[in-house]
Amino acid sequence: MSPSDFQFATKLANTMNWNMAPEDFEFMTSLEPEGCFVAFQGAERVGIATSISFRRIGWFGNLIVKEKYRGKGVGSILVKHAVNYLQSKGVKTVGLYAYPNLVNFYGNLGFKKDVDFSLLHTERLGSVIAETLPRVEQPQINEIEDFDSRFFGGERKKLLESIILEKGNLSYYWSEKDMVVGYVTATVYWSMAWVGPLICEEDNVDVAIRLVKAVLSKLTGKSVYLVLPKTEVALSNMFLDVGFTEDFSVARMFLGESTAKNCIYLAESLERG
Ligand SMILES: CC(C)(COP(=O)(O)OP(=O)(O)OC[C@H]1O[C@@H](n2cnc3c(N)ncnc32)[C@H](O)[C@@H]1OP(=O)(O)O)[C@@H](O)C(=O)NCCC(=O)NCCS
Repeated sequence: MSPSDFQFATKLANTMNWNMAPEDFEFMTSLEPEGCFVAFQGAERVGIATSISFRRIGWFGNLIVKEKYRGKGVGSILVKHAVNYLQSKGVKTVGLYAYPNLVNFYGNLGFKKDVDFSLLHTERLGSVIAETLPRVEQPQINEIEDFDSRFFGGERKKLLESIILEKGNLSYYWSEKDMVVGYVTATVYWSMAWVGPLICEEDNVDVAIRLVKAVLSKLTGKSVYLVLPKTEVALSNMFLDVGFTEDFSVARMFLGESTAKNCIYLAESLERG
């Protein structure tokens, strides 16, 4: 995928109400220039998919084929092509989030279902009261990246830095005895925001709630999205209490050994894990 494909990719993605802008594909291709693909039938663009490598782990997403070309194998080719690309970069495990009706489609390509996640959304977040937490600044970045990679299983340095260091985004951490036990970031746009990633050590849901509230307290009035495992009941209830509802659910699937460690987790995005 090159810049001349961004308009096509955006228009196609938004036939699914994915709410994307050309900047999303610009960001994706800046992170993984060789890992974003357009399928052609002759000279016509007919589908897209993106992927990103984090050393051992890769993530696949944004798969969509033009309606009149579906059912002819294009989707499967895009998945296989991206998986081959990721494996050529040394990725051992590929993850993705699948709509429930596509679990069999990905299953036929070798992916195995892991846990179910909910996409939660509020169109206009009300005011949330929170304590002030320490922000992640340059000196903490290495420690946060190491902490993240212990649980995520791959190295998300390039992605985390592009979120944390971007002015206007939010990131907070919590430490005990000088050790990080959790962090959260949010990507903030003019009228909307995406909360995540969040990673917190298991059994620290109170810390996760503090971190999330610190972020939400800065997002009043915005349309806010996040993705979390359905098993994370206490955290989920907190979001429902402040007005979030479930838009849809997705299944996390892995090709290769699942390396996700038990932790409290909010996804960075559907297309990058
Ligand atoms: C999912 C999608 C990309 C598949 O592309 P495609 O080119 O139609 O896929 P293929 O032709 O390679 O399909 C392979 C198989 O999966 C099945 N399949 C494809 N889409 C399916 C769907 N939505 N539901 C159930 N089965 C599906 C096909 O029937 C086919 O089975 P067969 O080989 O037994 O005939 C396409 O349906 C699409 O663009 N959907 C809308 C976007 C979307 O949902 N993206 C995925 C986000 S997780």
